[in-house]
Amino acid sequence: MDKRILPITLEDYFKDIPARATEPVLIRSLSQMVSLFKDGEEALKEGDWELYRFWTIEPAMNQPGEMAFGVTDLYPGTIGGEFNMTHGHYHAGPGAELYMGLKGSGLLLLQSREGELKIIEFKEGTATYIPSGWGHRMVNTGEQTMTFLAVWPTGIEHDYEVMYRNDFKVRVLKGDGGVVFEDR
Ligand code: F6R
Ligand code: ZN
Repeated sequence: MDKRILPITLEDYFKDIPARATEPVLIRSLSQMVSLFKDGEEALKEGDWELYRFWTIEPAMNQPGEMAFGVTDLYPGTIGGEFNMTHGHYHAGPGAELYMGLKGSGLLLLQSREGELKIIEFKEGTATYIPSGWGHRMVNTGEQTMTFLAVWPTGIEHDYEVMYRNDFKVRVLKGDGGVVFEDR
């Protein structure tokens, strides 16, 4: 094949994600998110564990019109009956985002600042546009690691603190028959 043609599939690209990342991998453990889970304190007594990790690539950091993107590996499991999830955040100021499912399955929670909630079923190939101003959290409801791609404008700030004042309206629990929502 002509050497100018690069046969890089999404899968190949993200297999190499640690090498491509422009920032150190970010690992989030239960101890860093303990109060977001209803029974987080109790679960932590059994020991700390890694909930997910993500890599970020910002080829042209903070330059106007540029993009940042990243890949998250969100592990399967429950914490006191609640499905494992990302911390969740809002983007401070304007900044939309695109999430795309690469592997596994789960639910994407979206919540506007006014409190409107949307729940989107996620699996390999799902692509969702997250409008500016909507908080977002991924929940792994499946049995395997969930891997998803996120693309957002470079230069935006991530507001994590808001989750401690105004978290998502629902918790996603594992019931006998599958997913159960509980009002927060
Ligand atoms: C970036 C974005 C994702 C998340 C990642 C981890 O704007 O939404 O790359 O940063 O999935 O989740 P958080 O940031 O909530 O810990
Ligand atoms: Zn985001």
